[in-house]
Amino acid sequence: MRQNIALYADHNATAPLRPAVVEAMAAADREAWANPSSPHAAGRAAAALLESARRRVAAVLDADPRWITFTSGATEANAQALAPGAGPPVWAAAVEHPSVLEWAEQHLAVDTDGVLDLQAFLSALHARPAGAPGRLRIAIQLANNETGVLQPIDAVYQATRAGGHHLHCDATQAPGRLPLRGLAARADSLALSAHKAGGPKGVGLLIAKTPPSALLRGGPQERGLRAGTVPVSLVAGLACALELAEAEAAAGQGAADPGPRDQLEAALLRLGARPLASDRPRLPNTCAALLSVPAELAVAALDLAGLSASTGAACSSGASSPSHVLLAMGLRGRPLRLSLGPGIDVQQMILLLERTLPALAVDALDLG
Ligand SMILES: Cc1ncc(COP(=O)(O)O)c(C=O)c1O
Repeated sequence: MRQNIALYADHNATAPLRPAVVEAMAAADREAWANPSSPHAAGRAAAALLESARRRVAAVLDADPRWITFTSGATEANAQALAPGAGPPVWAAAVEHPSVLEWAEQHLAVDTDGVLDLQAFLSALHARPAGAPGRLRIAIQLANNETGVLQPIDAVYQATRAGGHHLHCDATQAPGRLPLRGLAARADSLALSAHKAGGPKGVGLLIAKTPPSALLRGGPQERGLRAGTVPVSLVAGLACALELAEAEAAAGQGAADPGPRDQLEAALLRLGARPLASDRPRLPNTCAALLSVPAELAVAALDLAGLSASTGAACSSGASSPSHVLLAMGLRGRPLRLSLGPGIDVQQMILLLERTLPALAVDALDLG
């Protein structure tokens, strides 16, 4: 079934594949289909395309191409940076994605908007008992996937550098929403994924300034840091998606334009919803709000009306259990999340919200 991109408000779960990305992948599959580790001419053509994509991605991020390891996505990049065998204990903000929290020994408190409590973090760093392992890996995301709120990554990097710790930043929600230029200078390692930026699913990358431990072993690919045949056409799609996303972010277009988000949020306020973290720096494409009815009901009703929304992270949005992000903020339940991107029709979205949400509230009163 063809989906209506104009009414698709779930870009933080995944963004529609960009036509230029489809073309870039098709061209790579036509011209560089061989195994990039093969020594013959066809293999060398694939290796050349792979290395050219690595240089293009590095240029977008102001990174050294040698820092980049291509992975199957941000989940794997986070695991490679944070898995136990790869280094010292991990502390992570309590609102991190589950693929980060999985590895965390300690969860760091956030305030009621979901922003890291910097004072509490610095105190915890200084109060570590004598005899605790010298270095830590600190994992702080750039932006939250459920609320869009940004973390004080530069202040955290200053503190972690001063203490000789390693800062890993999950920047998965950044492409297209925030400029990527200069990002590599803001942490020791970073995770990114193609599919949040209109690239293909199943490919992402880890940027690490010092070589990370291999998570997948058993082959020399990616300088021995990630075994397995590199999917050259997916990597070509990733490079194309990041370049296009970066151009939009630089121009304040598409997911980087806060205008549609602000209009939707104003409509939600008029309808009695309570937007989350709306006074804090956050992603220009994301608005999350608590409703007077369960968000799952709203998502189902909006879906029937043709609008694709979510109740937060896609990996748990079928669940009615409370969101760990909201719990960390001292709230319960799940939010209605609208996450936007290029090609949406904000006026039509507002119309559908105005038609759908008040009827749900009336139904809930009748039932109650
Ligand atoms: C903040 C964040 N980190 C990590 C991931 C996992 O990314 P991937 O689907 O590439 O494994 C997601 C995707 O849902 C995310 O939003």
